[in-house]
Amino acid sequence: MEKLLVEKSPRLTGKVRVSGAKNASLPILAASLLGTEDIILEDVPKLKDVEVMIEVLKALGSRVEEYEDGTILINSKDVNNYETNYELMNKMRASFLVMGPLLTRLGKAKNSLPGGCAIGTRPIDLHLKGFKSLGAKIEESVGDINSLESYIMASSDRLVGDKIYLDFPSVGATENIMMAAVMAEGETVIENAAMEPEIVDLSNFLRKLGGNIKGAGTSSITIRGVEKLGGARHQIIPDRIEAGTFMVAAAITGGDIVVDNVIPDHLKPIIAKLIETGCEVIVNDEDIRVIAGKKLNSIDIKTLPYPGFPTDMQAQFIALMTRCEGINVAIETVFENRFMHVGEFKKMGADISIDGRSAIINGNVPLHGTSVRATDLRSGAALILAGLTAEGVTEINDIYHIDRGYENVEDKFRSLGAKITRVDN
Ligand code: UD1
Repeated sequence: MEKLLVEKSPRLTGKVRVSGAKNASLPILAASLLGTEDIILEDVPKLKDVEVMIEVLKALGSRVEEYEDGTILINSKDVNNYETNYELMNKMRASFLVMGPLLTRLGKAKNSLPGGCAIGTRPIDLHLKGFKSLGAKIEESVGDINSLESYIMASSDRLVGDKIYLDFPSVGATENIMMAAVMAEGETVIENAAMEPEIVDLSNFLRKLGGNIKGAGTSSITIRGVEKLGGARHQIIPDRIEAGTFMVAAAITGGDIVVDNVIPDHLKPIIAKLIETGCEVIVNDEDIRVIAGKKLNSIDIKTLPYPGFPTDMQAQFIALMTRCEGINVAIETVFENRFMHVGEFKKMGADISIDGRSAIINGNVPLHGTSVRATDLRSGAALILAGLTAEGVTEINDIYHIDRGYENVEDKFRSLGAKITRVDN
């Protein structure tokens, strides 16, 4: 098992290039099951989660060729397997995103129950509600959660468009339903749809394949089914969460970092909050420079679906708040149990208390390095950020979580001056 050793570092400076977005790559790779001609994806990040999704596609019958520069060629002409391998499915919750494409392409899809980050209960009821509305029959067998007997099967000879209202704007459910509806008969309207940029990227990709979709990026998405989808070349959008993580790295270390390859519009809540802390944020067309203020003012954040503050930046901002003067509050409204990292920050000396969905952070307490563990992907990144400012050495264990979502994480941090090394246990 590998771990990361992070030492208290000087202010981080320089330029870092953000990779393609993990959360756009995964649904777009799943959607590649729908095309019958060559698909070329550019700027796909080299991440564990992407590797798993590629394995899932191969197991389903797609031909996949990967190139060094992040380009991937996919041909799904011969896809005929509707059943996702249990081992792969269990590694990553997002594998469930192949359900929609398989259902509409092959008329059936069978999947074990999703694994992945353990952040609260993460049900799939909205995905299933959508499939049912389109006319799919759903069979569930819920045995022991870790057994092969637990599966979901969706089937239909003929999917027909419908109006679907989501009780919560779930990102995954919006994507899965969009993909199922793209080859259903007639018109589907998803109301209270998620509006995340990754939904827009998926929609743009599906349109290039020949899909007829309008309204992605708003709360109402209309999909007119088509009979067949072809091929396309598509570049994945930059990862707004990776960008946000490096922006926080500038703030927390008193640094000055240019974060390159970003879509500034996607980062509005991060920019606004960093300005509140007293940072100077210079926004250009494709890069953002963050210059830390002399001191960090206290802030409050509340996570919300896009365009609100992203839950995937909550842990990194709690790391920052441990360095912001006075009392700071972080409210998590998207996931039920997403404060596991707080226990790890406390091991480092942080003064944080939890009250229901709120974390109250007293920023006037110094941090010290110790042995901690990444409890999920973003908490791992947050521990790196905290480790950069803590006295001594922070030893981060369970870093496989970090590798699921950050490409070359220690190389990128090191290029900015961070003292970080990966070692074998
Ligand atoms: C996606 C992102 C993840 C991010 C999350 C919220 C990917 C691969 N992952 O996850 O990084 O943290 O969006 O921005 O894109 N819910 C239900 N029923 C459902 C589905 C979801 O109640 O059927 C609830 C979940 O329990 C959770 C909330 O909706 O409380 C948000 O989940 P969702 O938007 O679906 O997140 P994911 O798509 O899993």
